[in-house]
Amino acid sequence: MSYQELYDLSTNNPTQFWGDAAKNIDWYKQPTTILDESNPPFYRWFSDGELNTCHNALDRHVENGRADQLALIYDSPVTDSVRKYTYQELRDTVAKFAGALQANGVTKGDRVIVYMPMIPEAVIAMLACARIGAIHSVVFGGFAAKELATRIDDAKPVMMLTASCGIEGKRVIEYKPLLDQAIELSTHKPSHCIVYQRPQAKASLIEGRDLDWVEASDAAEPADCVPVLATDPLYILYTSGTTGIPKGVVRDNGGHAVAMYWSMKHVYNMTPGEVYWAASDVGWVVGHSYIVYAPLLYGCTTVVYEGKPVGTPDPGAFWRMVSDHKISTLFTAPTAFRAIKKEDPNGEHIKNYNLDGFRALFFAGERCDPDTLFWAQEKLNVPVIDHWWQTETGWAIAANCLGIEQLEIKPGSPTRAVPGFNVQCLNESGEPVTGKENIGNIVIKLPMPPACLPTLWNNDDRYVESYLSAFKGYYLTGDAGYVDDNGYIWIMSRVDDIINVAGHRLSTGGMEEVLASHPDVAECAVIGTQDTLKGEIPLGMVVLKSGVEREEAEIQKELIKLVREKIGPVAAFKQVAVVHRLPKTRSGKILRGTMKKIADGNEFNMPATIDDPIILDEITDALGHIGFPHQQ
Ligand code: COA
Ligand code: AMP
Repeated sequence: MSYQELYDLSTNNPTQFWGDAAKNIDWYKQPTTILDESNPPFYRWFSDGELNTCHNALDRHVENGRADQLALIYDSPVTDSVRKYTYQELRDTVAKFAGALQANGVTKGDRVIVYMPMIPEAVIAMLACARIGAIHSVVFGGFAAKELATRIDDAKPVMMLTASCGIEGKRVIEYKPLLDQAIELSTHKPSHCIVYQRPQAKASLIEGRDLDWVEASDAAEPADCVPVLATDPLYILYTSGTTGIPKGVVRDNGGHAVAMYWSMKHVYNMTPGEVYWAASDVGWVVGHSYIVYAPLLYGCTTVVYEGKPVGTPDPGAFWRMVSDHKISTLFTAPTAFRAIKKEDPNGEHIKNYNLDGFRALFFAGERCDPDTLFWAQEKLNVPVIDHWWQTETGWAIAANCLGIEQLEIKPGSPTRAVPGFNVQCLNESGEPVTGKENIGNIVIKLPMPPACLPTLWNNDDRYVESYLSAFKGYYLTGDAGYVDDNGYIWIMSRVDDIINVAGHRLSTGGMEEVLASHPDVAECAVIGTQDTLKGEIPLGMVVLKSGVEREEAEIQKELIKLVREKIGPVAAFKQVAVVHRLPKTRSGKILRGTMKKIADGNEFNMPATIDDPIILDEITDALGHIGFPHQQ
């Protein structure tokens, strides 16, 4: 079937379309209701079906001839080690660890927070939760203790899983002190923590609360898969909202399994048995979907890479991986390729490796700039596919679906809507518009396809308010752009204060809350400014309280340290200017857009509503002092 035929089928008859797709999953109880529309705007998929995601990801393959096939390859240049698990080995290890969770009081529906580096145990932890019907919530290792504490208080886990340390390039980052600090800060106290001790750092365990991973696992009986409802949550993944309080995106079991499986064939053109590598982190949605669940549900081999695109040891790292592990498809963020291109502009390192079996490269996480796309196309000579999605959807909303039909690649556009997603561009009055001249809100008509968030954790109201209230009957993606006359989608910017730093989604509102908590700060604003490597990086501007006479440089250092302590190194907050006043409209709204243009060195029109135009000269001067605009 052509892309258009399949797309039309998915929107005209979603029940038939997804009912057929559901046949690829093993159900304890086959769903008889495919799409449950009884409680709009809450739509549920396969609501009376029962399954187990871990069974579908592991046991089913062990039973059906893939026992000896590799399920997971762990490659860690930072520890100079490689470890491989067959499906049988991974299933047995997961079953034992699931037994350890049960033995320590974790039951169906309980939450378990996973705060771990990129080691196989992170994947084992997630699958073990899925096996016993517990709900995992993975927190990215680059977040600070306070962010972890916020998530503990929202998810209220009974158990925390961690490792003694992560390794960032050559630095050993101890995780356990951060975890201990987070539990001290949180109101909710988890009963137990299981700690995987790595040789690079030994964590001290708190008697009665903390357990050693290997001992707990060795002592446990393997646990069987527990049937859950298709609509039961598989995981909660927190993502940045417009404030410092993150949103707990809920993923269900049934819809997720069906969509993940479907996407491996249709979006990525994979065949079971092949090796698929998402060079991301299990702390992000890309890691959940395409390091852990989709490749395993589909019977592929997945890859856990503990390293960086450059520096571990050189910009040939990705090509070594592809060649050593016979990877056929790679998925990463454009920023990783910008890092490689910067160090190896002519792609000399590529020539050292045999990339014969490499078929396609997928980019997501941020807009793919055409230069990066052209460079990758030219150097690798495979289709380079930009696709667009978000934590909330769990998989691609727009893509060039290689497994259906390769459409023309238009650099700068993630191509057309993936079957199942009815994507439209609405103007401020809520009318559908098309054409380059009509930049508007990119929305998805309800109901969204399987795997998309059914709600936010314990917060139906915030779900409706954040996503469904702007335009009735539509999900607001928060991205602005346009749909061209050929149905290609162009994502241009966010409509809120989310910024995208090295493919990581961050809230400038959250950073402003931290700056505002400094005793010397009267007012502040944080904006995203252009960066050739990371796409965007945050820039803070603060107005000091009157009477503050301290050295500005001291205060700037404190502010940078504060954001690192409260949000984490991942925020990459390294620049802050002290200004006398912030430019505002007459109604008091801070003119962030204008400040961004000044910082980026772009032309701007004097906003008609500005209360005092002179302030913009002051801002230009203050930013000039800290080196803005940068020479790009
Ligand atoms: N644990 C602890 N610290 C972490 C961390 C983790 N898991 N991940 C990142 N950090 C730290 C980094 O060490 C760095 O600290 P520093 O300020 O002390 O140097 C900081 O957080 C920022 O990290 P990052 O944005 O990753 O920058 P980097 O300079 O280390 O590397 C790239 C730059 C481009 C190589 C890197 O960002 C990259 O590989 N990006 C790919 C993005 C990606 O996979 N996105 C997922 C969506 S597909
Ligand atoms: P996250 O939820 O962290 O995956 O971030 C999702 C956001 O990243 C989207 O809403 C977009 O703003 C941005 N994004 C992700 N992929 C793309 C892409 N291919 N093109 C443009 N923006 C993207």
